[in-house]
Parts: sequence; C-alpha cells; structure tokens
Amino acid sequence: MLCIILSVLIGLFTLVLLFSTRVRRQNEPPLDQGLLPWLGHALTFGKDAAKFLARMKEKHGDIFTVRLAGRYMTVLLDPASYDAVLGDTASFTQNRSQLLKSIFSLVLPDMQPSAERTLMEQHFQGASLSKLNGAMGAHLQSLLLSEHQGCRSAEWSQDGLFSFCYSLLFRAGYLTLFEGRDNDAAVYKEFRKFDGLLTKLAYRSLKGEERQTADSSRERLWRLLTPVRTSGGSESGSWQQNYCRFLRGEGVDEETQTRALLLQLWTTQCNAGPAAFWLLGFLLAHPAAMEAVKAEVGTLHHLTNGPVAALQAHRTPVLDSALAETLRLTAAVMINREVARARTLATAGGREYHLRRGDRVCLFPFLSPQMDPEIHQDPQLFKYDRFLNEDMTVKDAFYRNEKRLKYYTMPWGAGRNVCVGKDFAVASIKQFVFLVLTSLDVELCDPEAKLPPVNPSRYGFGMLQPKGDLQIRYRLKRTQHRM
Ligand code: HEM
Repeated sequence: MLCIILSVLIGLFTLVLLFSTRVRRQNEPPLDQGLLPWLGHALTFGKDAAKFLARMKEKHGDIFTVRLAGRYMTVLLDPASYDAVLGDTASFTQNRSQLLKSIFSLVLPDMQPSAERTLMEQHFQGASLSKLNGAMGAHLQSLLLSEHQGCRSAEWSQDGLFSFCYSLLFRAGYLTLFEGRDNDAAVYKEFRKFDGLLTKLAYRSLKGEERQTADSSRERLWRLLTPVRTSGGSESGSWQQNYCRFLRGEGVDEETQTRALLLQLWTTQCNAGPAAFWLLGFLLAHPAAMEAVKAEVGTLHHLTNGPVAALQAHRTPVLDSALAETLRLTAAVMINREVARARTLATAGGREYHLRRGDRVCLFPFLSPQMDPEIHQDPQLFKYDRFLNEDMTVKDAFYRNEKRLKYYTMPWGAGRNVCVGKDFAVASIKQFVFLVLTSLDVELCDPEAKLPPVNPSRYGFGMLQPKGDLQIRYRLKRTQHRM
C-alpha cells in the first residue's frame, strides 16, 4: 500500500516538475526559474520584490524571465524600451481579473475598458477638476481645523505622521468623491485594517486568523458603502452616480456594484495619504528643504486667500520639485501586462527578444528610471531641488547611455493606463501640505528621528508605506489667519 502511495506521489511530483519547468528557446530573454518546483521565486518576490528584481537585474541585465507560482513573467527594466510594451495595446493587454478576485472578491463581466476610462477622464480631468479641487480643499480645511481644535490652546498634540496624513487625505477624498457621507471615520478605520492585509490577499498568503479579519473587514466595507450606492449620490451627474450607472449598463448586478465601489475606494484613496506622509516626512527630516518650501508657500499665503485660490493662481516650482522627488523615491507601481499574442520585442539597445503568449510582462519603474544611479546621481538621497533648474523651471533632461530619456521618473505609470487622477492627486497633496504648513506648527518629537524604513511587501502596489511611523507634535499657529 505504502509503495503505491509513494509511487503516486513521485508521479505527481514528476508531473509538476515536467509541466512547470520550461527550457529557454532561441532569442528568448534569460530565464531564471528558481529552485522550487512550480513556486519558482514566488516567496522571495513576495517578501521584497525590489530587492529580488535588483538582484536579477545585476545577474541578467535589463530583461529576464522569472517563474512565479507556475507563471512566467518577463521583467523589462530599460525605460528607453518601455514604449515597446506601453505603445502596443493589442499585444500587451491589461488583465486584472485575478487580482480583483483575490483582493476584492470581485468578478466583473468583460467591460469596454475605453468606456470606463472615458468616464473617469470626464470626472477627474478638465472642467470637473476645479470643482473637485474646491470640494477637496473645503473638506481638508474643515477636517484639519475641526479635528485639531484641541491645539487652539497652543498646547502641542502628538500623533504618528503616517496616521495623521493618511486619515486626513483619505477622509477628505472619500467625502469629496463618495459624497457627503458622515461615516468617513468608520470607513477609514475599516479600510486601514483591509489595506494592512492587501498584499497578503494578493499573494494568497493569509494565515487562518488573518483570512477571517480580511473577509470580515471587506464585508464591513461593503456594508458601509451600500448606502453610497443605493442613494445614488446627492448630486446629479456625480462621479459615483455615473460609475454605478455605467456598471448597470454593463449588466453588473447590485452586489457586484458595491464590491466595485470598494475597488474604486482603494484606487482613488490609497495613494495620496502615503504620498503626503513621505513628502512631509522628508521635509521634516531635511531642514533646508523645509525652509525652501515654507518660504514659497508663505509668500503665496500672504498674497491670496485660501489654498485652492493660491495654488491655482501661482506656480510653486519648489514644492513641485519636492513632490516629484518624493514620488521618485516612494512610488513603486508594477505595470503588468499579459502577452495576448506571441511576438518579438525590440529593445532600444537594438536586441530582439521573443515573448510567449500567455506570459506576463512587467515594467518596474521604481528600479529604473527612478532609483537608477545611471540616471539619478545618489538615487537613494532626497534632494528637494532634483527636478528644478536654476531659473526655477522644471528640470526634465535626464540621460541613460548618453541618450535623453522620455521616462526619467514614472510615479503615475504611462501610456493608455496612466493615472487618470494625477492632477487631482497632485492638487490634493499640495493643498494638504499648504494647509499644514500655514496653519500648524509641526515638528518631530525627536529632532534626531529618521524616517521609518519601507514596508518591503508593498513594492508593486503603488505608493510605498512605512514600517512603523514617525512621531510628530503640532499645534495651531498663533498667527493663524482665518481662512
Ligand atoms: C500619489 C497618488 C497616486 C499615484 C502615485 C497613482 C498612481 C497610479 C498609477 C501608477 C496608475 C497606473 C497603473 C497601471 O498602469 O497599471 C494609476 C491608475 C489609476 N489611478 Fe492613480 N495614483 C494616485 C492617485 C490617484 C487618485 C487620487 C485617483 C482618483 C481620484 C486615481 C485614479 C486612478 C485610476 C482610475 C486609475 C486607472 C486608470 C486606467 O486603468 O485607465 N489615482 N494610478
């Protein structure tokens, strides 16, 4: 009996080995399958994708194929060649269905991606944008001033900078886009629990208790978002109202619409808060940068009334460069596409590589261009004026192999799926920083404190998050103008 069981197990193991192992063909990228059958490099990748891919880049160069949990992914790390993937939307398609299922328990029908994109553009760009910016500014202002009334007495309050930034930007963003619900604090609290388990959901590596927490948190968020969907929004023609109408038009049932709202909550709210944290954190840890930004913001504050008007009427080159530098260091999206039909990829270096149908292609701009020492000198350092010319214009001339680059930093992605909320996100972060610096005195509790390290499991999921927090104290400025 034992012999039979053993033979079956050996047979199964051999089958797994046979079917999950591939042989590199001529003109294919270097292949690195890892030692573990089927899993390949999945565990190392999930722990710290940036470290793993940097090691692979050193071993194989700018293009290579790795095996991750039975699938093959070709990683391209030469920004001069990115357009070969981003520009060919027929061969390289976006397939998010697996991630939507594992993270959001969401299965959407085959929808027209261009119709959804157009809907998003109508609401986050052009004429709608200034209305959104106005609403966001008002919510930020009222949350910041009402919640921190305690510091009116000129006493210092203490908080972790990450919680402070994420809470304010998330809740103001939720109130702006999901319309005037007064459950913003409850949604934020539940969302943070869910967001904390997001990468484990994506990698399907939750342990028993964590799975229960993730499931119940997701269900609570669906319940919290249900009134948003059923009320249809207070304002006609609002984003969330039109989004639900679009889904109905695509034949999506009510329960799936609510699930899709959670996906949208994540897409629209999970990046700006962490970005504001890193920006304020870098400024607090770099006094010269803080002084330069404060000088610029202070001038505008005296010229105009309120952050929206000030930021609309005046350029802020120093703040813009500090934000671009922050995003270079902490925006770490992976741009994943599926190879819809076998094809040859021509790189900028003149090589041609054959890619197999069904494989994935991944661009990881965080490693290159953003942290590439050939493009940015001392890439690990925060230099607030890295993207600023002496005449205060934007510095956009960066080179690799002596060739000027189109993509020298890519926090917003690129091509057809470039972040549709970019302008809204930039305006929100700038308004937030403007408000904090003009209405509060903020300082590090420990003047010698360093920024916390990055949580390495977040590489690939948009803005990085810290492991731990940075304690700050703050109080309302005595010279606070009525805004
Ligand atoms: C610092 C803040 C943000 C960063 C760094 C960021 C980054 C990105 C990136 C890199 C992508 C492309 C992903 C890909 O190609 O696979 C993306 C897509 C998207 N972003 Fe953002 N984002 C931010 C904030 C926002 C905000 C505030 C909104 C909306 C209000 C938003 C809405 C979207 C949407 C709808 C897409 C999908 C676009 C499409 O697939 O066509 N983002 N974002």
